[in-house]
Amino acid sequence: MATALITGASSGIGLELAIEFAKHGDDLILVARSEAKLKELADAIKAKYKVAVHILVKDLNDDKHIDEVHTYTLMQNIQVDYLVNNAGFGDFGAFADEDWNRINSMIDVNIKALTRLSWLYVREMVQRKKGRIMNVASTAAFQPGPYMAVYYATKSYVLLLSEAMANELKDHGITVTALCPGATESSFADTANARDTKLFQRKIPSSAEVAAYGYKAMMKGKTVAIHGATNYMLAQSIRFFPRKMVAAVIAKIHSKD
Ligand SMILES: NC(=O)c1ccc[n+]([C@@H]2O[C@H](COP(=O)([O-])OP(=O)(O)OC[C@H]3O[C@@H](n4cnc5c(N)ncnc54)[C@H](OP(=O)(O)O)[C@@H]3O)[C@@H](O)[C@H]2O)c1
Repeated sequence: MATALITGASSGIGLELAIEFAKHGDDLILVARSEAKLKELADAIKAKYKVAVHILVKDLNDDKHIDEVHTYTLMQNIQVDYLVNNAGFGDFGAFADEDWNRINSMIDVNIKALTRLSWLYVREMVQRKKGRIMNVASTAAFQPGPYMAVYYATKSYVLLLSEAMANELKDHGITVTALCPGATESSFADTANARDTKLFQRKIPSSAEVAAYGYKAMMKGKTVAIHGATNYMLAQSIRFFPRKMVAAVIAKIHSKD
């Protein structure tokens, strides 16, 4: 029996990933800020799948909270076999108009928390010569994203960190997967104030579809896992078209009219 630690498990892709691991008989450590949502999910999973579920109510903006996650698993003597850095959010708007606190928080959650948790747990995995890490990036990772500039840049960081880690760790029995979903049905669009952009005004996959795909990719040890054929093609566009042209297309996709 293995244990999966999943951040951002209170909704969307993280919640569905928790169900996916539970379906496969894995114990869970679920991390997010929303205590009531985590409790509700933990109760439902325990009743249906008979696995152990720990909930940690933590704000990943806070360095102390990040370290408390690691301390908890050490104190409880829990071996984290699968680390899923899923927590993250975006923010729609022109860079010049963005609120600094939102930018700072996006960098803290999307980049710093993911990096620190990876660093803390990978060292244990290296000692055991076994483990899997999934970092939830995005198709946003592949090109500049005018009107969601910081978000796209944070996801580029996640993709490049994951690819480099995967290379360094390939001979240590550890896999690192960057899951790259395109627009997906979850709370993401509302949190980012992007629900009425062209990006979300079309039929998009559910979080459950993306989680099922991500789980399989992680278990296969795939390094870069782009969900969906269209998303795959779009992610490649930066290789074939001038970068300025790709940026202009993304700016259009982010428009609200
Ligand atoms: N949906 C999309 O279109 C899409 C596309 C590509 C990539 N992604 C990525 O997929 C991941 C999951 O997003 P989602 O679509 O499932 O969105 P979501 O439904 O909004 O879920 C985001 C999760 O992150 C958690 N979170 C946010 N800030 C946090 C903080 N400070 N501390 C702890 N947890 C925090 C939230 O929990 P609490 O609010 O309870 O803390 C929630 O569980 C993100 O990394 C996102 O960038 C999403």
